[in-house]
Amino acid sequence: MILITGGAGFIGANFVLDWFRSGEDEGIVTLDKLTYAGNLENLRDLQHDPRHIFVRGDIGDKVLVANLLSKYRPRAIVNFAAESHVDRSIHGPTEFIQTNVVGTFNLLECAREYWGGLGDGDKGRFRLHHVSTDEVYGSLGLSDPAFKETNPYEPNSPYSASKAASDHLVRAWFHTYGFPVVTTNCSNNYGPYHFPEKLIPLVILNALNSKPLPIYGDGQQIRDWLYVGDHCSAIREVLANGRLGETYNIGGWNEKTNIEAVKTICSVLDKLRPRDDRKSYADQITFVKDRPGHDRRYAIDASKVEQELGWRPAETFDTGIRKTIQWYLDNSDWVKGVVTGAYREWLEKQYQKQ
Ligand code: NAD
Ligand code: DAU
Repeated sequence: MILITGGAGFIGANFVLDWFRSGEDEGIVTLDKLTYAGNLENLRDLQHDPRHIFVRGDIGDKVLVANLLSKYRPRAIVNFAAESHVDRSIHGPTEFIQTNVVGTFNLLECAREYWGGLGDGDKGRFRLHHVSTDEVYGSLGLSDPAFKETNPYEPNSPYSASKAASDHLVRAWFHTYGFPVVTTNCSNNYGPYHFPEKLIPLVILNALNSKPLPIYGDGQQIRDWLYVGDHCSAIREVLANGRLGETYNIGGWNEKTNIEAVKTICSVLDKLRPRDDRKSYADQITFVKDRPGHDRRYAIDASKVEQELGWRPAETFDTGIRKTIQWYLDNSDWVKGVVTGAYREWLEKQYQKQ
């Protein structure tokens, strides 16, 4: 068994589904609090699959986590559980500190106690894989080299500061206690099951619903887009063969300005689902007030994971975005399910003044 935390969210659910699709034979226990971002519909295909067990709960709940570990005796933990949206962290950082910092601390402590009680063989095999972000490195200038694992941490938002804090805890547990960990820091993911508060799914769904496509500031911010299936294959590789105590940057080698990314989505949609009036979806692009403290550029140098473990992303932005848009067109029931009252309230709060 392996224990996946946050497995009902966007990347976690893709990871759980891909794990079985890729022929892994170990079962999975998914622990997820089911916040607004967690959605059991993402795991619907596994509803009756005996290889998968779902438990609703908080990584910050010491009794629950300790009980799960002693009951299922996982040989590894992959920690996806987090509050993940930068804009929400600006409106209300408390949950970010609670889950990303205190929750990760609790998970580390429970896991360390469990690991300490394992026999030599199991102890040697055990590891905790912590999933983190490139945002911990701060913001790059246009001509700066891409982030390497050796870049200093310079987080700029409450979200990235909370992720940086969790990375530091994970690092310290390795150096102080010899607790076996590995951390991956990845760039912006996109793909199926992406919650539509984030740029790519928001733009796809707003376009189809004849709504404005909101671009923060001048739209010249750069993100390095990584197809979620590529991220999942990288995590499987690092989980299996990454060196303990190391960090690995995972990226798509796909830098795009936000405006480029949005225009690409519009032109793919123009072909796959033309507007009734045959005008381009790009006509819906609207520039709105910028995000406070908005990081200008992220770019990942993923050469360490390639050289050590032979991993490279399979998708370019053009191939990945086509698959993603097609998935949203084919899964309107999933879309209807996530567009709840709570989500609509968030959209109103976030975009009314802009
Ligand atoms: P998400 O917000 O879609 O999902 C997070 C999941 O964690 C949800 O299912 C939620 O219910 C669960 N969760 C939240 N608090 C919890 C708690 N206290 N206990 C248990 N479960 C809890 O996020 P995502 O985009 O899937 O991101 C997964 C991880 O990858 C996060 O750690 C995030 O920081 C990191 N990451 C994401 C991206 C990206 O582009 N999405 C890029 C780099 C790193
Ligand atoms: O870099 C990795 C990070 O990528 C992850 O750690 C985060 O969990 C994930 O949410 C993502 O953060 P971003 O802030 O980069 O993603 P988001 O989709 O919110 O925004 C992408 C870019 O698009 C960013 O420059 C802000 C901009 N944007 C976003 C929204 C929601 C807009 O211009 N308009 C919007 O409406």
